[in-house]
Amino acid sequence: MEIEPLKQAALAELKGAADLAALEQAKGTWLGPNGKFTALMKQLGALPREERPAAGKLINQAKVELETALSEHRAQLDLKSALPKEATDFTLPGRRRTLGKLHPLTQVTEDIVRIFRKLGFAVADGPEIEDEYHCFDALNTPADHPARDSQDTFYLNSEERVLLRTHTSSVQIRVMEKQRPPVRIIVPGRVYRRDNPDATHNPTFQQIEGLYVDRGVTVGDLKGTVEFVFKELLGDEVKIRFRPHYFSYTEPSFEIDFSSALTRKMGKEWMEIAGCGMVHPLVFEKVGYDPEVWTGWAFGFGIERIAMIRYNINDIRLFYENDARFLRQF
Ligand code: DAH
Repeated sequence: MEIEPLKQAALAELKGAADLAALEQAKGTWLGPNGKFTALMKQLGALPREERPAAGKLINQAKVELETALSEHRAQLDLKSALPKEATDFTLPGRRRTLGKLHPLTQVTEDIVRIFRKLGFAVADGPEIEDEYHCFDALNTPADHPARDSQDTFYLNSEERVLLRTHTSSVQIRVMEKQRPPVRIIVPGRVYRRDNPDATHNPTFQQIEGLYVDRGVTVGDLKGTVEFVFKELLGDEVKIRFRPHYFSYTEPSFEIDFSSALTRKMGKEWMEIAGCGMVHPLVFEKVGYDPEVWTGWAFGFGIERIAMIRYNINDIRLFYENDARFLRQF
């Protein structure tokens, strides 16, 4: 029996198989039920009795060798087939995930809040769905008051008279109802008006309300505070002026205009930015503060206005369109 040459031929074919299919083929040819090596084992019976043990031992050793070669080469071919077909360039820069940004209105709000915090103001909050009492009556604006017309809003339920708040001033009342003076708060928040959208109006927008109540508070304190905040926010060359105005919840009342290189660029020397005044004694009476003891000022301004000036934006509606090309710029 020629074991050795047969074994060498089988090893050469098994190790030389180019892929898994060729390997399975070679396995069949040699080790399958009708394989050439299997046939060798079947011939064992034809040998003389005394030669059988030695021959059997050799055949078994050869078979182990062939099976080892088979499984080793299979492992190699498996590995090879798992490799990528094309070379990978590990020096290519990866794809970065883009980081989001805060909305420009949020950025401006956070800056304003930060500046007021320096002065010891705390942030307060109130409901956007408000009742008429907090939105109007407690602010000395009864149902027949002409000031209601310009601020009339979206009523949600005609029996309970709840509405979407027209200004953050309602939060002044909510805070004073719960807290004894002194009070130093600012209130950033969303408000609603029955306005048609155009370049400078939107039915929903953001305001910041401020309220300061203590003993002996003056218009001078109000002016100084507003001036400090606007200079911090928009730069040192900003000028502000107070113009007499009317609000039912302050007396005296003013509108604040400001002037800067930017307003001049927009073709205006002065631009109106806020309403303010000294808290009306009747408002203090509504919340149980003694107007003979306590004095205070309040203001409210639109955040969009400030953001538009700061970033040179000429249409308020851009803030609400969620167009990523617009938002990416801030
Ligand atoms: N609530 C006013 C508005 O929405 C702004 C305002 C004016 C707020 C005077 C005040 C204030 O606190 O004292 O137009």
